[in-house]
Amino acid sequence: MTKKILITGGAGYIGSHTLLAAVGQGYDVAVIDNLSTGRREVIPTECAFYEVDLVDKPKVEQALKEFLPDTVIHFAGSIDVRESVENPIKYYANNTYASLALIEACVKHNVQRFIFSSTAAVYGNPDGGTVSETSPTFPINPYGHSKLMTEQILSDASKSHGFRYAILRYFNVAGADLRLKAAQPTPMATHLIKVACQTVLGLHPSIKIFGTDYETADGTCIRDFIHISDLARAHLNVLDYMTEYDASAVFNCGNGQGYSVKQILDAVQRVSGINFKIEHGSRRAGDPRSLIADTSCLRNKTGWVAQHEDIDEIVSSALAWERKILESASL
Ligand code: UFG
Repeated sequence: MTKKILITGGAGYIGSHTLLAAVGQGYDVAVIDNLSTGRREVIPTECAFYEVDLVDKPKVEQALKEFLPDTVIHFAGSIDVRESVENPIKYYANNTYASLALIEACVKHNVQRFIFSSTAAVYGNPDGGTVSETSPTFPINPYGHSKLMTEQILSDASKSHGFRYAILRYFNVAGADLRLKAAQPTPMATHLIKVACQTVLGLHPSIKIFGTDYETADGTCIRDFIHISDLARAHLNVLDYMTEYDASAVFNCGNGQGYSVKQILDAVQRVSGINFKIEHGSRRAGDPRSLIADTSCLRNKTGWVAQHEDIDEIVSSALAWERKILESASL
């Protein structure tokens, strides 16, 4: 039975929600985070915390020696597709190079299981319909490449060094768990639902749709949205699966339903009751037309079930979170 989990990026968005879920299930959890974007306040006081950059090998190894985790869940990294096109070296450094350093340290210190935050961006621009874990991987942006390279490193290293790994390919993550004590501001937010909620609250005068000439029913891109709490729980389901079957695996993490950018903006207007201004802009570099997950592997192998798949519920939780951030900023 896995007892001790070390979470990298545990002060960030997905990391902090997974931390909350893991602590709730009685795991002993420690966090490594360099606090470049995360907040110290989201880490419960009972968790050991190492303010360390993953490329600082002596400090990472010290944390592994002290805490002796049997599992590492690796979230730390950069996540913005457009930024990865503008600054690819940052993505290969923060996502590939830093992960390689961490994997090397984990091998040296006999970590048995390694769960990696990957992305649907590894699929590139699929033809249409849903993508499964065996669909071809052809990233169309440096972000997707930087994650796919780490997937390869994990797969190769696991064969030679005997640890088990799971790769979780996240589709579009949104929403929040309001039980999190601290609200994380993300001043440079670029994600669709987050920016739309900020627009509802008057933080932006309008929101721009990046491209209305895609080959989709309404001309805008299609994405598959998963609630952050469902995604956080998926990590623990996957960990149970790896432990029970002593297995490595790749999992798509989405809901299996596609919504266009326009449909999402409709949902945000419907849920908020605010008809904020929407502008039509040109396509954003690096954006695939449509990404929808086939989630049967996650459901069948681990027993994971979405609890918040309704898009209005996802949007309303995201909106509540943005309100909480605004309130905490004005205190
Ligand atoms: N979009 C807009 N206007 C905005 C923001 C986004 O039109 O102000 C559009 C984008 O062009 C895209 C869609 O909304 O078509 C979703 O964009 P996001 O920035 O919210 O998310 P991405 O799909 O680019 O990327 C996210 C994660 C990745 C993950 C990917 C998988 O950041 O880690 O979802 O679909 F790989």
